[in-house]
Amino acid sequence: MTTPFHLGWFMSFRPPAFPDQWVGADAAEWTNGRFYEDFARSLERAKFDYIMIEDSSMVPDAYAGTSEIDLKYSLYAPKHDPLALAALMADVTSRLGIVATASSTFYPPYLLARTMSTLDHLSRGRVGWNVVTSSEDRAAQNYGIDRLPEHDERYDRADEFIDLVGQLWDSWEEGAETQDRGTGAFVDHTKVHPIDFVGAHYSSRGPLNLPRSPQGRPVICQAGGSGRGRRFGATHADTIIASAHGVEAMKAYRDSVREHLVEAGRDPDSCKVLFVVSPIVAESEAAAQDRFTSAWAPTDRRVEAALGHISAYTENDMSQFDLDKPVEELTTNGHQSTLAMFMKRAEGGKTLREVAANWSISCLDLVGTPSSVADQMEEAMEYVGGDGFLISGATSRRYITEVTDGLVPELQRRGLTRTEYTHRTLRDNLLSF
Ligand SMILES: Cc1cc2nc3c(=O)[nH]c(=O)nc-3n(C[C@H](O)[C@H](O)[C@H](O)COP(=O)(O)O)c2cc1C
Repeated sequence: MTTPFHLGWFMSFRPPAFPDQWVGADAAEWTNGRFYEDFARSLERAKFDYIMIEDSSMVPDAYAGTSEIDLKYSLYAPKHDPLALAALMADVTSRLGIVATASSTFYPPYLLARTMSTLDHLSRGRVGWNVVTSSEDRAAQNYGIDRLPEHDERYDRADEFIDLVGQLWDSWEEGAETQDRGTGAFVDHTKVHPIDFVGAHYSSRGPLNLPRSPQGRPVICQAGGSGRGRRFGATHADTIIASAHGVEAMKAYRDSVREHLVEAGRDPDSCKVLFVVSPIVAESEAAAQDRFTSAWAPTDRRVEAALGHISAYTENDMSQFDLDKPVEELTTNGHQSTLAMFMKRAEGGKTLREVAANWSISCLDLVGTPSSVADQMEEAMEYVGGDGFLISGATSRRYITEVTDGLVPELQRRGLTRTEYTHRTLRDNLLSF
């Protein structure tokens, strides 16, 4: 019997795939959010579990000491706030889960708890929070912090942050809003409790100033791949989004998350691990291969954009190295697991140009017709053991349609992905298989 798997989409509230000829009017009008509303509708039509809106809050200048490359290719900026977009997406959908990224290093806990709880109400229980600890001093400086805390300390603080936020979410008992016409009381004050939280890093009196939300606690999503990051995810997350190259590494990643879940006293099936992939689907194998070859041509643009990305989230200036020499050993206080993946790909003396030209966080190369890509996804999931894929690819209507209306119907026909939402809330849908 086939075991179904989950689908999510990894998106940025950035401009669409400019200068791709298929972006049409969306490039000029991306800031008004309408394209992203249609994006959410398409994912709901294809019965995705959720859309994950990533985030960062800076205009990087680590590459060559200038923002030129970043802004030229719109790598990190311009970018809108994901929480505002989550509200728009919730309004035009009824079952899709909407996961928005927010940094535990920059948000005050009360503000985060309140905003997420409001979004959970507005979406009627479909919101999730992608918890990130942030990776760049440049982002920290926008919040008046010179340097980020050390990598592991950020996770220690995030543990306390989530504890506090969870207590705020629980500060209103179920049914506190009695709306009793007899007594005239809208809320029963005996069911609303201060939390008087005092921790090593944060404190908050509470209670929250709004009722318990439909999910009680919005879904927690997490992506940290370091040992500390995985322990953090295993303690708190309902879903983990992961990048690991090849089926062996994917299986090892998921197995280690499941071990950490058991160590944390949790059911290993209570957290779904979704792996990043960017399938290329076309009418024929040859057409798909052509698209793959042209998408991966080692152009200057591709190399520069990859190095701009690596520079931004490791805060190493990658422009200082010779492109045609082997990659030098690097360290970072930012994304440690992503840098480790980059260094792994450089093994065997590969040049910086080669590694940059082939750099992607996609776990597998999925290329072919809908039918052959469905075969590849099915095989990978059988080997890895679950729990699904997080699609990431060109932000254009064409690419979205190829996946939602070309690939997904084939997956559904085989019983590999859901054909209906069986529950109302994101958590219930996520945990339903
Ligand atoms: C699929 C995926 C999505 C991510 N999204 C974000 C994001 O939106 N914002 C962010 O600051 N970091 C994001 N990250 C980075 C992680 O939060 C984390 O910092 C990174 O994976 C390194 O984790 P580590 O330091 O535990 O190795 C993402 C990572 C992955 C693999």
